[in-house]
Amino acid sequence: MSRTSRRTLRCGELRAQHAGQRVRLGGWVHRRRDLGGIVFIDLRDRAGLVQIAVGPSAPEDVRRTASGLTGETVVEVEGEVVLRPPNMRNPELATGEVEVHPAKLVVVGPAVTPAIPVARAKGEELAAEELRLKHRHLDLRRPEMQENLVLRHRLLQRARRTLSELEFLEIETPILTKPTPEGARDYLVPSRVHPGEFYALPQSPQIYKQLLMVAGFDRYFQIARCFRDEDLRNDRQPEFTQIDIEASFVGMEDVLGFVETVLAALWEEAGHPVARPFPRITWREAMERYGTDKPDLRYELAIADWTTQVAGLGVPFFESALKNGARVRGLAVKGGATLSRKDVDQLAEAAKQLGGSGLAWVKRQGDQLSGSVAKHFTSAALEALGVGDGDAAVMAVGPDRSTSAVLDRIRQEVLHRLGAKPSAAHAFAWVVDFPLFEPDPDTGTPVFAHHPFTSPHPDDLAAGKLESDPFACRALHYDAVYNGNELGSGSIRITDPAVQRKVFALLGLAAADVDARFGFLLQGLQAGAPPHGGFAVGFDRVVMLLAGAGSLRDVIAFPKTTAARALFEGAPAPAAPADLKALHIEVER
Ligand code: AMO
Repeated sequence: MSRTSRRTLRCGELRAQHAGQRVRLGGWVHRRRDLGGIVFIDLRDRAGLVQIAVGPSAPEDVRRTASGLTGETVVEVEGEVVLRPPNMRNPELATGEVEVHPAKLVVVGPAVTPAIPVARAKGEELAAEELRLKHRHLDLRRPEMQENLVLRHRLLQRARRTLSELEFLEIETPILTKPTPEGARDYLVPSRVHPGEFYALPQSPQIYKQLLMVAGFDRYFQIARCFRDEDLRNDRQPEFTQIDIEASFVGMEDVLGFVETVLAALWEEAGHPVARPFPRITWREAMERYGTDKPDLRYELAIADWTTQVAGLGVPFFESALKNGARVRGLAVKGGATLSRKDVDQLAEAAKQLGGSGLAWVKRQGDQLSGSVAKHFTSAALEALGVGDGDAAVMAVGPDRSTSAVLDRIRQEVLHRLGAKPSAAHAFAWVVDFPLFEPDPDTGTPVFAHHPFTSPHPDDLAAGKLESDPFACRALHYDAVYNGNELGSGSIRITDPAVQRKVFALLGLAAADVDARFGFLLQGLQAGAPPHGGFAVGFDRVVMLLAGAGSLRDVIAFPKTTAARALFEGAPAPAAPADLKALHIEVER
């Protein structure tokens, strides 16, 4: 399959079975070693490396070319595949049993000295990421990056195949569109022909996929590019890819089934068969036991409510908060007594930065207790909390919102610092029964927890909670989490236009505003909408996790920095005054 009019096969595809064949190869000079009488060239292409050996018997012009080759030059080679002598074989290289003895060697793509190294010596650090992003064409030549993008391709094809087999139709939705609220800012594109008007790039295809259900397509999917102007981190990019699905005449169970089938297929594609069905945990339980809605369930360590047990101990640190009805929550950390003073100080500092009131600690070594509140505790009191010899108790007090955030962070940190052994390699879970609304941290008013099209839980809707106690109203919203990462989100949607209007009103949107922004959806819902629901898997995150990469940037060919810049192509960039004028835009400087 790799044969073209200019080559027989790829460099990395040569094996012992090819010995004796005459081949033509093309590739990049990865390394050149000149041992006096013989020059070895590691020639690289997307399939890997092969050794080209240019010895004294090679034609004169080949020897001349070989001795002048520099790194990253593109050459074409024609020659015989030869078995290496047994003591010269390289078991670390897939092609290590053979080498090529060239009869022809031609430079077809001379290369300037590369700005960053592609071939690295063992243990040699990578170039700084900024440089790698700036010279992305070179960075992408690294075998690790090639492997990541090959894996990405395979996962993408597997997702498509799996969904097609489940009778989902791949349908594309617009990129130049109206705002689709998913909680981030929109990227806006000015219209030249309609002065002062703007398209928005989609934060997701949410409304369109719902309209496709209204239109009767029944099962839709799309490998959808989404755009969100938000604070970036290693697991967030301003443009990213979702495996986006929607289906009609379904309940939550059906959607979870579809998504599990896709995720299990992707993990299998990467060589990791996973057990199904995935366990489920309610949002409330996840927050209570792990302090987060994306718990890492590879570890058993869980947050406990110790309010009753510590109330009588007279710990001044807890007193005033307890009087105000706050709870004391804590972690019984196995082996935590080995955490150093420095560890403890750093963890306390991290807790403070999360806005908590700090941490209280007791370490237990035999009957020796130490830590910030040790003098108020006894070994027996610790035993009652599940804190044994060699363990530590870490406690936080205050409103649940703050103790959850603090203890989530501390849980992750101590597991990491203690080198805790995971009980499983792959811990998937469904988090279900999310609240419909969250209080805005600044104003306390309701903001949507997922997006405004998520259906309230029918029991809570029937009990009138949408009106009487919106914050207690659960949603038919579910998340897939994996080893502490949110892989994706979805929900059963509102199909009753009256309920949809009520939700918009609770979010503080005026009726006229609703009609202007979401009239097209409401029209659709009035036109005969089937019950429907769906999901979106964050595809870049899946690839990152399956590639074992530390950042989305390592699994996206041309990513943005955390400052939302494309360093390679140099975007964003100022626009020419004539272009701005045509777009009716004046820039304030
Ligand atoms: P949500 O907003 O939760 O849901 O997005 C789904 C998944 O997309 C991934 N994701 C991101 N990945 C990289 N960079 C980002 N900036 C980014 N933002 C989100 C996450 C996330 O879990 N329309 C709904 C889905 C639905 O209800 O069907 C939606 O977009 O992995």
